[in-house]
Amino acid sequence: MSDWIEPIAELGYLVAAAFFIVGLKQLGSPRTAVRGNQLGAIGMFLAVVITLVKMNAEEGGIVGVVLIAAGVLIGAGIGVVMAKKVKMTGMPELVALFNGFGGGASALVALSELVGRTPSESSLGAEVFIIAAGLSSVIGWVTLTGSVVAMFKLNGTIKGNVVFGGINLVKGGLLIAAIVLIALLVNTSGQGALLDSGQGLTLLIALGLVSALLGVIFVVPIGGADMPVVISFLNSLSGVAASTTGFVVNNNALIISGALVGAAGLILTGIMCKAMNRPFIDVMLKVYGAARGSDSGEKRTARGYEAEEACLAFDGARSVIFVPGYGMAVSQSQHVVRELAEELERRGTEVRYAIHPVAGRMPGHMNVLLAEANVPYEQLIELDDINPYFSECAVVVVIGANDTINPAAKTDPTGPLGGMPVLDVEKARTVIIVKRSLSPGYAGVDNDLFYEPSTMMLFGDGKAKLTELLAATKDL
Ligand code: TAP
Repeated sequence: MSDWIEPIAELGYLVAAAFFIVGLKQLGSPRTAVRGNQLGAIGMFLAVVITLVKMNAEEGGIVGVVLIAAGVLIGAGIGVVMAKKVKMTGMPELVALFNGFGGGASALVALSELVGRTPSESSLGAEVFIIAAGLSSVIGWVTLTGSVVAMFKLNGTIKGNVVFGGINLVKGGLLIAAIVLIALLVNTSGQGALLDSGQGLTLLIALGLVSALLGVIFVVPIGGADMPVVISFLNSLSGVAASTTGFVVNNNALIISGALVGAAGLILTGIMCKAMNRPFIDVMLKVYGAARGSDSGEKRTARGYEAEEACLAFDGARSVIFVPGYGMAVSQSQHVVRELAEELERRGTEVRYAIHPVAGRMPGHMNVLLAEANVPYEQLIELDDINPYFSECAVVVVIGANDTINPAAKTDPTGPLGGMPVLDVEKARTVIIVKRSLSPGYAGVDNDLFYEPSTMMLFGDGKAKLTELLAATKDL
């Protein structure tokens, strides 16, 4: 390799890393998030170009410009089509799948290094090289299959938690098997390539299968309301897989970007655990109660109201709090919500939005939707800060939120929602709930709030009902 390329490449990687870090910082606020995303993309583009130029200068050159260009075109084409075709409600599944692809890509790179390189020639030394590549394939495959299961859980193809006796023993067994297989790979490596020994290929296939199964078994038992934790953790794992792959291929940009994703995902996992009020280890190993309906046996009825009746509650209201949930995303009613809020403000009512950290189906889901509808960011108030205000609030308007307002989280500690902090909407004078039916939310738990005398159920699609409510409020 030309002597000058190495320091210039390292300097370029440093610049790319600076783009990642500044971009990540800007993702912290909706005002700067789009720019942050663009900076991250520029950093990644820079890192890819530098890597190609660097590899080209190395002896032997790169795989071939045509092959790389074809890969970039096909990959980018699929990405653009998927991103354009996916509905806003399908975004969480798409993000889960992209996470999985990240893990899968790391596993494939690690595999190609294990197959194509002679371990003893690696600058890491044969043993460290095999351990690093083995780890990145285990984490990569776990991330891929775990994310695919998470995607199916998010779109409802897999319902509830799939559990069987001794599942934690199976998880532990698979983890130990993966470690033993990596140790055997280290043992197998002589002076030549791994595939030179008859055992090498068998061990690599076994490692892939064990890891893929571990990913599935790791995610299937995790129940409805705990999905945010597992999604953030898989996000973190995809970064860790990329970072270990960075060590294997000796690429600093990959090590840094992977570490940033890993750390950010881990912080988010911590935030989600706090939001669910559950220790991480419990989410991973403990199976929370299965969903069950009201067991009182009595038939209860919830009264449905017309928009013209419900809007009377706004008359003279000093304060109204909007509580958005997944149903607002499904009905894409965020713009009508903002219009209704503006109409109320014109009448002298103070308006705020209560944001539950796991509302919707992806971290920050409600913030993204409300920002898209130009709702002022200062009006979005987090769970802990808004809860004391419900008792002094005249009207709460719930738009397709269910688990995040379900009092069962407080009254049934052993249930699927047990212990999760929820929005105390029942303390408001009047609660208007917009949803299509009495069906439970994601965790499958009935909601007693629908039957409270202070609750007005507005049955129907979120956007349609809010449009009616807006029209009726204008006529007040
Ligand atoms: P959910 O509890 O999921 O309830 C959403 C409600 O929206 C449903 O009860 C549904 O009732 C209603 N809905 C659906 N389509 C609608 C439409 N077109 N118009 C009006 N309403 C509609 O929502 P939530 O309170 O936001 O809670 C989120 C749940 O998802 C939590 O359990 C959370 O743990 C879980 N989760 C979150 C994430 C992240 S990261 N945020 C990831 C995975 C899972 P109808 O069918 O009767 O209309």
